[in-house]
This record gives sequence, C-alpha cells and structure tokens, in this order.
Amino acid sequence: MGIDEGGSASALREDLMAAGYTASGIRELWGPDADDAIVRGQLLPARRALAGRSDDSALATLGALFILGETLPAERVGDALPSLGLAGAEALELVEVSDAGVRALCSLRSHTFVDADGATSWWIVSDLDEAVTRRPLRDDHVVGVGGASTTLLGLQPTDRVGTALDLGTGCGIQALLASAHADRVIATDISERALRFARLNAALNGAENIDFRLGDLFRPLAGETVDRLVSNPPFVVTPRVDGVPLLEYRDGGRSGDDLMTTLIGELPAHLAPGGIAVLLGNWEYHVDRDGLDRMRLAARAAGLDAWVVERDVLTASQYAETWIRDGGVLARTPRFDELYAAWLEDFAVRDVDRIGLGYLILRKPVGSLPTLSRFERLHGALGASDAGLSAHVAACIAAHDWQTDLSDDALLRARLVVAADVTEQRHYWPGDAHPAVIDLRQGGGFGRTVEIDSALAGFVGACDGELEVGSISDAVAQLLEGDPDALRAELLPQIRDLVNIGILLPSAD
Ligand SMILES: C[S@@+](CC[C@H](N)C(=O)[O-])C[C@H]1O[C@@H](n2cnc3c(N)ncnc32)[C@H](O)[C@@H]1O
Repeated sequence: MGIDEGGSASALREDLMAAGYTASGIRELWGPDADDAIVRGQLLPARRALAGRSDDSALATLGALFILGETLPAERVGDALPSLGLAGAEALELVEVSDAGVRALCSLRSHTFVDADGATSWWIVSDLDEAVTRRPLRDDHVVGVGGASTTLLGLQPTDRVGTALDLGTGCGIQALLASAHADRVIATDISERALRFARLNAALNGAENIDFRLGDLFRPLAGETVDRLVSNPPFVVTPRVDGVPLLEYRDGGRSGDDLMTTLIGELPAHLAPGGIAVLLGNWEYHVDRDGLDRMRLAARAAGLDAWVVERDVLTASQYAETWIRDGGVLARTPRFDELYAAWLEDFAVRDVDRIGLGYLILRKPVGSLPTLSRFERLHGALGASDAGLSAHVAACIAAHDWQTDLSDDALLRARLVVAADVTEQRHYWPGDAHPAVIDLRQGGGFGRTVEIDSALAGFVGACDGELEVGSISDAVAQLLEGDPDALRAELLPQIRDLVNIGILLPSAD
C-alpha cells in the first residue's frame, strides 16, 4: 500500500464503478441470506451461491477475491481490474500473485450509510478478518467497518465546522464522513499501518481535505484546537499480563478503562469553546463504584458538558468471551481458556464486576460552567437505530440550551408543541373510568416511554403552540380544582425534562 496512491486509487475506483461493486450489487450477487451470513462471519453460503453458477463477471470476481478470500486465476482478476491492472493491484499490496493464482491481501468492501442528508457509499480497504484468514488477528490488524463504526457514523454531528478530528481513524471511515461536514479533518492513529489504509481509502473515495497524522491520543495535535472530535477509540479493557496480545485496533495501551478517563481529561485542552466531541466507550463497574458515576466524575473534573448514554452492560465473563472471540480465538480451545482466565483474574483483582458500553457526547462550554449533565441507561432497542441519532441528539442539545437559558417566568410565557413522533397510551384497571398509568411514547430518537400523571398529561395534551405554558398550567389547575401556583411549580421541572428529551418542542411561531 502507498505506491502512487492518487493515480492507482482513481484507476481502482474506475474499475469498481465499472464492475458495479456496491453493497447492494454484492448483496444481490449472492442473495440476502448469504450476505447476512457474512456479517455473522460465515462465508459458506456466499461461496455456495457463487459455485452454483458460472459467473465470471467482474462483480463476482471482485466479491470472491476481496470478500470471500478465494484464490482466483490471474487472467480473471486482471480482466476484472482493467484500469488498475494486476500489477497495479500488486503494487498497492491489495493482492499477492503466486503459481496457485491471485489471493487478496486485504478486504475491499463497499459500505452504504444513510443519514438525513441521504445515502453515501464508500469503498473501504482494511485487513481481512479471521472469517477469511482462519487465524487469530495480527497485533497490528486494521479493522474494517463494523457495528461500532456504524453507530458512531450515525452519531456524528452534521452541521458544518472548520476543523474536525477523528482520533484513532483506523481505516478512516469516520474521517470520510467528517470530511463532508468540515473544511478540514485531522485523522490520527498510533498505527502507521492503519494510516496507510486510511490514506488509500481517502484517495479511493476522493476525499482531499484529510490530514493524516501519526501518534498517541492527542499528541499529533501539538497544541492545536479543533471544533469537533469524533472517536471510536481503542476502549477495550484488556489484562496487562504476558501472553495476552495487545491488539492495536482495540487496545489503547492503558490499564482498565483509563483510556476513557484520559480522553475525557485531555479533551478540554484540544476542543474549541462550544465544540462537541462524540465518542464510543466502555466503562468499568467496580464493586463499590458505579460505571456511569465514574464517567460523571471524569466529565465534571474536566469541566465538560456531558450526555452519556449506556446502551448495554455486560458481566465480566460475557465481556471477556466477547473480546477473546473478536480477536479470532475459537471458544473451547486451550488458547481461549488461557485468555479467559487472564481476563477474569484481571477483573477479579481490580474488583470489576460489569462493563458498561455506550456513547459520550461531550461539549466544551462556551461560558465558564457546564450546564448539561445527563447520564442514563437506555438498554435495548431504540425508536430509531443508533445509526440515525445525530439529528435527534443535536435537537435535544439545542432544546436543553434553550430551556436552560429561560427563567421560570420566561418559560411560563413560552409556547410549546408536542413532537410529531409522540403518542399517548393510557392503561386502565378493568372497569375503572380513570387511567392507572399514562405513558408518552416517542416513536423516533431514543424511543423513550415516559410515565406521566394526569396533570402533566392534561398539560401536554393542550400544547399545540397556541397557548402559553402558564395559561395551560392554570387551566389544568382549574380543571383538577388544584392550586395554580402549586401546579406551576410542580409542572415546570417536568416540562423542562420533556423539552430536554425532544417530547415537547418550542413552538416555531
Ligand atoms: C476501534 S478502532 C476505530 C477505527 C475507526 N475509527 C472506526 O470507527 O471504525 C481504534 C483505532 O485506534 C487506534 N489506536 C490504538 N491506540 C491508539 C492510541 N494510543 N492513540 C491513537 N490511536 C490509537 C487503533 O490503531 C485503531 O485504528
């Protein structure tokens, strides 16, 4: 990789376009079932689908070579890459030619990502995964686009900024999306090998505003500040003992979850005021200390606005099993057991019983003090997928800022509307005229269900943007024959909460 990247990359792009080498083209080639099996690491259904017919198309050739890892005749591969040529593919270190034929040295796939701006597709070159190589991953493995990458893509803010930083760029996927929303992107990695893949991917996808830099965490910034940070950092908690491989793509070289607290602590020095950082992360639950609380303390010490969403929590054993398998080690083998023992021992001696997984949205306040401090557990399915959350997150932060700036008196004079995706559900005891439970349900965003009482339900039901908050509250008090002042005091904090989570919105008029 790295020879005449510009010229070779555009020749490769031409060949991929001519072959129709897209995610949907490939899915159609071997069928949806085989395509889904590949995501689960099973290549056999796709191999069988191709073996069942004599398809020498460039699409079938490139799919068999770069996704299924098959060895193919040199002539066939040369025909599928007419602009780049077999020699060009060798020079880019995409393939290796031997007497047996041509074999891929890396994975090359098309990924489509859809957000509010529409669909974008990128071709991404990365290392072959263990489903193809059938070996544990090498220590400097460069990972392709996985579930975590897609989650972070979906969380990336899309308003325009000057400079964005992608810390731990790997194959460069986050930098590619960021490059569409920033004048300039700085993409860093501790691995020179990863940066070579990322540079090739930038050239292959025509992204010209990315500056690639080598180094640990924020070191490559050398004092510069950025307007935005996105990072899917190497957050995996790994025992620091002999015999446990340190896989660069997921291990930032720190003990426990120190990488998270280090990133949070160093962030303010590198982020411009008002700048937002979106990170994925893992946090340990120590027997006597809650994982989210540990993140709260780190954000508070750094003076950052923070909204942290825990999407799941794993027990120590579930966590160890997941990451040992992810490294390409098969379960029920002596090597697996050896690594499993090391992981469990590390967790036991450090009193770690669970690990939380999720995302952190951090902001350097424009003023001196942070105003946003939300740490929540939203496990399970969401209203939208994680991949469609960035617009919702941006709207919630704007709503938080709006209501935080309003005094109670100003909020009483404001007009609100109910978000279009919100419905109300009432549950009754059989035969009872009054509901026992009233829920507001959010269709999009985080798909929240919020239980409310009848006063708040009466208030929300009247929020059509016409009447002021104070007038609606007083009307509800009259209806319930209660004290208007007491109801205003009771409703205001609840109204602020509903604004914060996107259930009530400021009226546009
Ligand atoms: C989980 S991968 C993320 C890849 C890509 N950004 C994505 O979203 O799919 C983490 C990346 O961080 C890099 N990395 C590991 N340790 C690092 C460190 N101390 N400083 C900067 N980058 C590091 C790894 O080489 C790897 O490419």
